[in-house]
Amino acid sequence: MEILRTVGELRQWSREERNDGGNTIGLVPTMGALHSGHASLIRAAVNSVGFVAVSLFVNPTQFGPNEDYARYPRTFEADCALAKSEGADVVFAPEVEELYPAGAATFVEVSGLSDRLDGKARPGHFRGVATVVAKLMIAAEPDRAFFGQKDAAQVAVLRRMVADLRLATEIVVCSIVREVDGLALSSRNVYLTPAERSQALVLSRAIRHVEGLVAEGERRASKLIEAARLLFATEPGVRVDYVALVDWATLLPVETASPGTLFAVAAWVGATRLIDNTILS
Ligand code: PAJ
Repeated sequence: MEILRTVGELRQWSREERNDGGNTIGLVPTMGALHSGHASLIRAAVNSVGFVAVSLFVNPTQFGPNEDYARYPRTFEADCALAKSEGADVVFAPEVEELYPAGAATFVEVSGLSDRLDGKARPGHFRGVATVVAKLMIAAEPDRAFFGQKDAAQVAVLRRMVADLRLATEIVVCSIVREVDGLALSSRNVYLTPAERSQALVLSRAIRHVEGLVAEGERRASKLIEAARLLFATEPGVRVDYVALVDWATLLPVETASPGTLFAVAAWVGATRLIDNTILS
C-alpha cells in the first residue's frame, strides 16, 4: 500500500489505475483515528470498486474555534496498518498546506442544509466538510465515495453538493457500526471517562426506543421526540443538543414519520458531543 502526500500524486494514481484496467476508483474520506466503523467503509469500497484510496486528514476548516482540532486523536501508523489490512490500495495523507495553499479563499457552501442539525450547533462545520470533500473528489476523481450513516446530516449535505456541482461521483452510505452494548463507534469515544462511557449509552437507547414505538405504530413526531427526551432525562449528566425527526434530504422537520425519515439525536456527555440516528423503516 502506497502513501501519497500531494493532490498531484493522488490524481495521477487515480488516472493511471482507471486507464490501465478500465477500472473503477473508490474514495473513503476520513480524519484518521480509524476504528471498525471506518473499516466497514473501506471493506464496502474494496468489495465494490477496483481501486481504493483512503484519505486521512484532520480538516481544520470543519472545526469551530473552541472545538477539538488540536487534540483530535492522530494515530497515523495504526491507521495505515488498518487501511492496508482492509485492502486499501493507497492512503492519501496531505499536509494542511497541500489542501489549503497559502491564501486559499475558495469554499463550498451548501446553503440552508448546512445550518440544520449539527450545522446549527456547529456554525461553519458543514462548509468545512463540503469544501474538503469537494477538494478530495476533484483530486481523486472517484466513481464512488463511501460515507457512514452515522453522520446522517453530513450525508445530506454531501448528496446536495454532488448533485449541485454535477460531480461524477456516486455517494454510497454504509450502516452504523456499534459496540456490542449499542454505542455507535466514534473517534471521539476515546475522550469519554468510564462513567461518561456508560452515560453515553442513552443515545443508542433513545434510538432503539423510538424504533420500537414506530414498530408499534406511533408516527407522530411530537410523541416520538417527547419519548426520546423523557429517556434522556433519566441521564442527568447528559445534555441534549437536538432530538429531531426530519426529511433526510432537506433536514427539515416532519410532523409524521414515514419510511426513510431520519430520526437523529445529538447530546453532550461531559465535554464530548456525540450523535446517533436511525432511518425509520
Ligand atoms: P470521520 O469522523 O473520520 O468519519 C469518516 C467516515 O466514517 C464518515 O463517513 C463517517 O460517517 C464514518 N463513520 C464514523 N463512525 C462510523 C460508524 N460508527 N459506523 C459507520 N461509519 C462511521 O466524517 C468525517 O470524518 C469528516 O467529516 C470527513 C467526511 C472525512 C471530511 O473531513
